[in-house]
Amino acid sequence: MDIFDEIICCMKAEASSTGNVFVRRKDLAEFMNEPLASRPVQQQTVPPVAKPQPPPVAIPETEPEPPMPAMTALPDLANMGWQELHQCALQCSACPLAPTRKNVVFGCGSQQTELMFIGEGPGADEDEQGVPFVGKAGELLTKMIRAMKYDRSEVYIANIVKCRPPGNRNPSDEEAAICLPILKRQIELVNPKAIVLLGAVPLKYLMGMTGITRQRGKWMEYNGIQVMPTYHPAYLLRNPAAKADVWKDLQQVMAYLGKL
Ligand code: URA
Ligand code: SF4
Repeated sequence: MDIFDEIICCMKAEASSTGNVFVRRKDLAEFMNEPLASRPVQQQTVPPVAKPQPPPVAIPETEPEPPMPAMTALPDLANMGWQELHQCALQCSACPLAPTRKNVVFGCGSQQTELMFIGEGPGADEDEQGVPFVGKAGELLTKMIRAMKYDRSEVYIANIVKCRPPGNRNPSDEEAAICLPILKRQIELVNPKAIVLLGAVPLKYLMGMTGITRQRGKWMEYNGIQVMPTYHPAYLLRNPAAKADVWKDLQQVMAYLGKL
């Protein structure tokens, strides 16, 4: 029996003892049965034949430095509404991520929702489209949300940083600290009942905590809002067996929101 079968078995047993109606099998199956095949095949690489290199060109000492793009600090966001906050993010150049982004990825979904998801930062697909969680990890997040009996449009989704860190690296402490006031204002404006933190990065920068493996599945609190840390969907794409843990965490959130 694989993990999926075990979960279905447990849910059936529980459903028959309590009479409760559970999640549609199709929605859970879509989250759990993500094919393993999407991993890239390891290619044999042939080392390139070394070409003769031209002699190094001496750089004259007078070579001008490339101009540093001006970093303009974020204004006080405390009293901003959605429109002003969004505009402010779109024009932001407050951290070193600004010059290399294509689009600012502000957030998406319902601004009047009980449930919010927070990721790390945009990847290549998100940078291209200006929308959070639209790549492979995003597809899995969408399935997680459906398994929780919500539509993606019914929850709010945002990230710690709004601009793509080059090469998909994690945001630096500085970048996260500079961008965080935008997310904090988004949380204030949405004022959800529960927040799901996706992975170590939001756990670190929103809660100041390390150790996602130890902390996942444990309720914590942010400004009176219940917060549930769990694994990031990109981690689940690499480790599908961890979906069982994530499903437990999401079910705690569903129970709290009256979805079970
Ligand atoms: N990963 C994230 O953390 N956020 C996104 O928006 C996309 C992928
Ligand atoms: Fe501004 Fe945040 Fe983008 Fe940095 S990541 S430029 S702080 S919006």
